[in-house]
Amino acid sequence: MNWRDYWNQDTPIYTSERHKLLHYRLIANDIIGLIPSPEAIVLDYGCGEALFADRIAAKCSRLYLSDAAPLVRERLNERFKDNERITVLSTDDVSDIADASLDLIVVNSLVQYLPSTSSARS
Ligand SMILES: C[S@@+](CC[C@H](N)C(=O)[O-])C[C@H]1O[C@@H](n2cnc3c(N)ncnc32)[C@H](O)[C@@H]1O
Repeated sequence: MNWRDYWNQDTPIYTSERHKLLHYRLIANDIIGLIPSPEAIVLDYGCGEALFADRIAAKCSRLYLSDAAPLVRERLNERFKDNERITVLSTDDVSDIADASLDLIVVNSLVQYLPSTSSARS
């Protein structure tokens, strides 16, 4: 199983629903603290369930959420379908974002799941 498949399911990494909620609330608050202005366009790449993305979106003009796992994106689309400031993107679709249009890119707790160059080749 690769990491994308691992995250494309319910995982046991949170000890409880409360743990998960607190985790995502902390992340959202940290991201909000980094938003440079209410007009900012923000990308959260490898966002996971981003349970408090609506709070982030309330502090910027557009929030792109992108995650490699289809199940994660499905849940994001369902949760935030009525929020006009939030757009859920596949990782391929991220390249469609206009050059130099992003004011903040968040990549939190993702890099450790990316293959190294040598393992990507094998
Ligand atoms: C540990 S979670 C981090 C979620 C969130 N950023 C946080 O800090 O709680 C890692 C997330 O990265 C996603 N992911 C894994 N590989 C990825 C890739 N190559 N590109 C984009 N997302 C990826 C997984 O689907 C998972 O939702």
